Amino acid sequence: MHEAAAHPAPPAAPDAAAGAAPIMTPRARRQGIRNAFERAAAHYDEAALIQREICSRLRAFAVGLDLQAGVSIDDTVLDAGCGTGFGFAELDQLCPGTTRIALDLAPSMLAQAGRRHERARARTNRAQSATAAACAESARAHDAGGSSGLLAVCGDLEHLPLASGRIALIWSSLAIQWCEPGRALAECARVLAPGGVALVATLGPRTLWELREAFALIDGARHTIDFHSATAWVRAAQAAALTPIAHETLELHASAPDLRGLLQDIKRIGAATVDGGRRRQPLGRAAWTRLQDGYERHRRSDGRLPATYEVILLALRKPAPSPPSR
Ligand SMILES: C[S@@+](CC[C@H](N)C(=O)[O-])C[C@H]1O[C@@H](n2cnc3c(N)ncnc32)[C@H](O)[C@@H]1O
Repeated sequence: MHEAAAHPAPPAAPDAAAGAAPIMTPRARRQGIRNAFERAAAHYDEAALIQREICSRLRAFAVGLDLQAGVSIDDTVLDAGCGTGFGFAELDQLCPGTTRIALDLAPSMLAQAGRRHERARARTNRAQSATAAACAESARAHDAGGSSGLLAVCGDLEHLPLASGRIALIWSSLAIQWCEPGRALAECARVLAPGGVALVATLGPRTLWELREAFALIDGARHTIDFHSATAWVRAAQAAALTPIAHETLELHASAPDLRGLLQDIKRIGAATVDGGRRRQPLGRAAWTRLQDGYERHRRSDGRLPATYEVILLALRKPAPSPPSR
């Protein structure tokens, strides 16, 4: 899917045929995605302001639908494409005490996620010990509560290395857009327990449109992945036998003082495209100037350059079998 039609047609690309990477096999593409996030892991948190915001919007979306009500302390929750673990704090609030599986394609992302989990655990334990020392009642609460366990799994959303029918809630924020929708959602449907829910945040076709428009002035290469519409995600969910409970679309804007900063942030969060058709040659000085000039027209009154993120929030349920009729 491509969204160029939503915006004015750009002028013809002067070097449209130059330097585009060939179409990739699914395996090579996955390796490229994994490598990009491996490189991004150490600096991901510094640049990922929008990603944090999206996690908090996804939790609010779930709370608005009262979806947490169906998850109990004995349940297992999967954070699919967990990255450095921004979702953990949201899940702590949404379904505290549940067992958590954190899954990601990139081992370095998982390592960061593990450290985040340990830090949170240490904080909880310190706070609980301090309270326990002051109050016997709290000491009993500490014994009963504690923090939830974490199982870190290096794996692929399109081929989940998990048993079927065991997960009560899947949380997946900004990972599924890297996947083939049908395959990823079929895997979600497989691992969910009957009645279980998948909470998904992904990106729609208007995402980074300013960037595509500006790059279209200088080449015909691909500079972002293809983003699917909410309608396409809902259709893919239905085809995977998941029932869409609700979906919502909103726009958020990242910003930076200049184009270099904006591009650096996109690269630091691992979101530069890895697909076939991407530009392989570095930009020359003239092309860079044209690109900057093209993006300049989006400069806001606060002096910053924006990048649009069209966020799609989805709540999908695996139907429970209907009770036998008498
Ligand atoms: C933009 S980050 C989002 C991370 C985190 N969920 C957050 O909200 O910050 C995308 C993550 O998805 C992971 N990812 C991409 N494709 C994946 C796949 N097929 N299977 C599992 N993880 C994947 C990446 O390695 C990366 O850590």
